[in-house]
Formats: sequence, C-alpha cells, structure tokens
Amino acid sequence: PSPPLVDRFGRRVSYLRISITDRCDFRCVYCMSEDMQFLPRSQVLTLEEIQQIARAFVALGVDKIRITGGEPLVRRGVTGLFRGLGTLPGLEELTLTTNGSQLARHAPALRAAGVRRINISLDSLRPERFRHITRQGELQRVLDGIDAALAAGMERVKINSVILKGRNADEIIDLVEFCRARDMDISFIEEMPLGVNADHDRAEVFYSSDQVRADIQARYRLIPTTESTGGPSRYFRLDDGPTRIGFISPHSHNFCVDCNRVRLTAEGRLLLCLGQEHSVDLRQVVREYPGDSRALTRAIVEAMQIKPQGHTFDLSAKPVILRHMSVTGG
Ligand code: GTP
Ligand code: 5AD
Ligand code: SF4
Repeated sequence: PSPPLVDRFGRRVSYLRISITDRCDFRCVYCMSEDMQFLPRSQVLTLEEIQQIARAFVALGVDKIRITGGEPLVRRGVTGLFRGLGTLPGLEELTLTTNGSQLARHAPALRAAGVRRINISLDSLRPERFRHITRQGELQRVLDGIDAALAAGMERVKINSVILKGRNADEIIDLVEFCRARDMDISFIEEMPLGVNADHDRAEVFYSSDQVRADIQARYRLIPTTESTGGPSRYFRLDDGPTRIGFISPHSHNFCVDCNRVRLTAEGRLLLCLGQEHSVDLRQVVREYPGDSRALTRAIVEAMQIKPQGHTFDLSAKPVILRHMSVTGG
C-alpha cells in the first residue's frame, strides 16, 4: 500500500470533499450571486471520472468522502454514484452536505448506499425568511427532507446554520430547539467571504460564534466536549440529550492547524484550501491519461506539496477569493 498523504506541515490528509455540481436549486445570499453563471456540461467531471479520482484517493488512505455541490442531489445519476462509492474498500465514511430540497425522494437510496450521516443546511424556520435567504427555496420541502432522512434511519443528522446579524440571529434558540426535539446535531457557522456578489456587507452582518454561544448559554447549559466529526466544528453537548452543538468559526477560531481535507471542484480542480487558490487540475490528468491510475496517483501525491498553511479571511477588506462557495461546496 502507498504511504499516506501528508503535506509540508505534517498534516495527514484523510478527508476528501467532492463537489459534483456547481448547480443548485437555491441561491443562498452568502453562497451565490442572483444571476449565477453555471459551468457548461463539458467542463464538469463525468460521474465515471469522479469515481476514478475517488478511487485513487481512497487507495492513498483517504477514508472519508463528503459529496457536496452546489446541491449534490440535483445531479442526474447521483444515487448511482453513491452506490459505486459505497463499495470502495477502505472508505469508512461516505456522506453528503445537502440543502435538503430533494432529500425526501433520495434519502432511502442514500441510506441503502451506505450513507449513515448527513448534513443539511437550514438557516431559518420561518417560510418567508427562508425564502429571502435562499432567494428561491421552499422551507416545507426541506423540513420534509429532514423528516425523510430521519425516517430512512440516518444515524446522525446535522443541521448547518450560517448566522447573520439582522437576518436570522434571532432564531438561534428556535434552531437549537428544533434540533433538540429531533435528536439532531447543529453547527453554527460564521460566514466566509468567498465571491464578491453577496447582497450584504459582510463585516456588518458578522455574528461571531462567541455571540451565538452566549445566546444559547443564556438558556441552556453547554458542556464542552473533545468529540470531533473530522470537520472544523468544535462541539458542545446539551446536558439533557444527545444533541451536539457545534461552532465553525473561520474568523474567531482558526482551525487550519488541524486541517485534514482537500476538495475536488465540479470541474476537477483539486483545491488544497478553501480560502486559497492553490490547486491542481486533475481533470486534465484523467482526460489525458484515461484509465491510468498511476498518473492520477502521482498528481495527487505531488499536490500535497502545495497545500497552503491556511486561510486568512479579512472581513474589512475586499474579498480575495472571487470564486463563489457553490463552486467548492464549502
Ligand atoms: P462533518 O464534520 O463531517 O460533519 O463536516 P463539516 O461540518 O466539515 O462539513 P459541512 O459540509 O457540513 O460544512 C460545514 C461548514 O464548514 C461549511 O461552511 C464549510 O465551508 C466549512 N468548512 C469545512 N471544512 C472547512 C475548511 O477546511 N476551511 C474552512 N474555512 N471551512 C470549512
Ligand atoms: N460561509 C460559510 N458557510 C457557507 N455555506 C455556504 N456559503 C457559505 C459561506 N459564504 C455553507 C452552507 C452549507 C455548507 C456546505 O456551507 O450553508 O451548509
Ligand atoms: Fe445552494 Fe447550498 Fe449554496 Fe444555498 S448554500 S445556494 S443551498 S449550494
């Protein structure tokens, strides 16, 4: 077996996030612009190419794959992809992050393919406001998707909420209670400045994880834990149930020293950090050397040498990273 993937800073890469489409049926204000231009089909990796790249990563010791988008469940053939990935030997966790809109119809097939954990984005429990934040989402469909995920027997369902001042910061307790009632986890996320077209001033709407935590602690006792799901969330437990409350704090608590992940964009760019542009074009490698796993393996191993130390987001400056979040799947 090949030696594991390790970067220049001694960090072991064991987690691959794969964006399988840049398209989405929502247009969340912090993720996309209103008139988003999507990639032409020919530039997007085929499902076979994705499988091939995933296989190479797993052979190199990656044991966790998260499928993202855009919205992964809008891609045709997605359940077949999950079935294929679910059979990779050595892959311990196959999971996805979804907006939930198509989950009602896909949850059973995903569970059958081996998905045990799922992350669902939900920023508001009020239909009008939900529509405003997602620009075109329908809350009830997402709520139905969440129910379907629980009914399909997902072992862990985690809600992701990006909290913005003046938008949804007054719903923090409601979101916690929603998750507590269903034994789900929740992560509160500080908005990251990717792309230029946000409809708001990011410094103005910034709401720190510490503020979120203080709001929750006014009502609940939070018990710190050292538990990790392999992502950047720092978790606390409520003292009366299984619900974990996580904080993803790219601004107030940089987590780059523990980074264990890289990302594959929908067009096959291996992105070595969410907050930087360092990348390697794996699409070119799979298209130039079809079926040659050695070329791919070599490109992946070499890419570790350019993984940067971390991101430096500055909310008071113009965004440095012009690609939108939807291109990298977060
Ligand atoms: P689990 O820990 O497996 O539940 O996954 P996760 O929370 O890492 O994944 P998810 O797709 O739910 O992402 C939640 C948020 O974390 C998103 O806003 C991601 O952009 C963010 N995130 C995940 N990894 C990184 C990272 O390496 N850097 C930064 N800046 N943000 C990240
Ligand atoms: N900052 C932080 N999180 C974001 N997400 C999308 N855009 C941003 C952003 N600019 C979140 C989504 C989803 C996860 C994959 O990333 O809400 O839950
Ligand atoms: Fe779609 Fe998720 Fe981006 Fe919202 S955050 S527009 S649901 S990809």
